[in-house]
Amino acid sequence: MSENGQPPNSEKYPQHVAIIMDGNGRWAKRRGLPRLAGHKAGTDNLRKIIKACVEFGVKYLTIYAFSTENWGRPKEEVDGLMRILEDVIERELSELKEQGVQIRHLGCLDQLAGSVQRKVLNAVEQTKENSTLILNVAFNYGGRDEIIHAVKKMLGDHITADAVTHELMSEYLYTAGSPDPDLIIRTSGELRISNFLIWQAAYSEWYVTETYWPDFGREEFKKALDEYAQRDRRFGKVESSEYTGVND
Ligand code: FPP
Repeated sequence: MSENGQPPNSEKYPQHVAIIMDGNGRWAKRRGLPRLAGHKAGTDNLRKIIKACVEFGVKYLTIYAFSTENWGRPKEEVDGLMRILEDVIERELSELKEQGVQIRHLGCLDQLAGSVQRKVLNAVEQTKENSTLILNVAFNYGGRDEIIHAVKKMLGDHITADAVTHELMSEYLYTAGSPDPDLIIRTSGELRISNFLIWQAAYSEWYVTETYWPDFGREEFKKALDEYAQRDRRFGKVESSEYTGVND
C-alpha cells in the first residue's frame, strides 16, 4: 500500500471498467443447481465488485446484465432475471446511495414490464446527484440496437451529414456522458464481444479469465486492474521511444 492507502499502481488504474459477467449458468451446473442460482450468486458478487470499484477509485463501471439476445432464453430464466433486477434495486438502493453510486441505464426500457421500468427510472432519479461511481447497467442492451437507436435519433434531430463526427456519435449513444471503457473484463473464458459496447470498445484493453463470474471476487478484480496498469496503450500509434531510441 502507498501513503494514500491505495495499491502502488493505482494511479494507472482504469477510469472506466466494463464487465461481461459470464459463466453464471456453468457455475450453477457444476454445483447441481438451477441456472437462476448462478445468477443470484452473480448478483452477490456484483455487490463485492461495486465496493471494490469504490475502494480502488474506478469512476465508471458498466455491467452487461441482460442483452437483447437474452430474450431467447427459456421464459423461466428471463422472468428470473427481470425479478433479480427488481429485487436488486429494492434491496440495494439505499446502500448504493450511501456509497455515492449513480445508477444509469443502458438499453431499451420500453420492452420491460411497467413495474421494472418504474423501479429503474426511480433508481436513476434517486441517485442522479451521486458521483463516487457511475454504474451503467446494460439491461435489454445490444450494441447494434444502440447504434440504430442513435442514428434514428440523429435523423429525428435533423443532424446533417457534415455534422456527424465520432464525438457526436458518442453523444447519441446510451453511454453519453461516460468515457469509452479503458478495460473490458470477460469472465468464464469466452473470446467474444457478444454485441457489447461495439462502438465504445474500439481501443479498450481486454482481460479474459477462465473464472466464472460468481467467483470473480475482489482479489481477481484487483489482479485485472494491476495487469491493466502494466499495459502500454498506443491507440493505433507508436511509442515516441521507437523513433528516438529512448526506452522510458
Ligand atoms: C451470463 O452468464 C450472465 C447473464 C446473462 C446475466 C448476468 C446477470 C447477473 C450477474 C445478475 C446481476 C443482474 C442485475 C440485473 C444487476 P450465462 O448465464 O450465460 O452463463 P453460462 O454461459 O455459463 O451459461
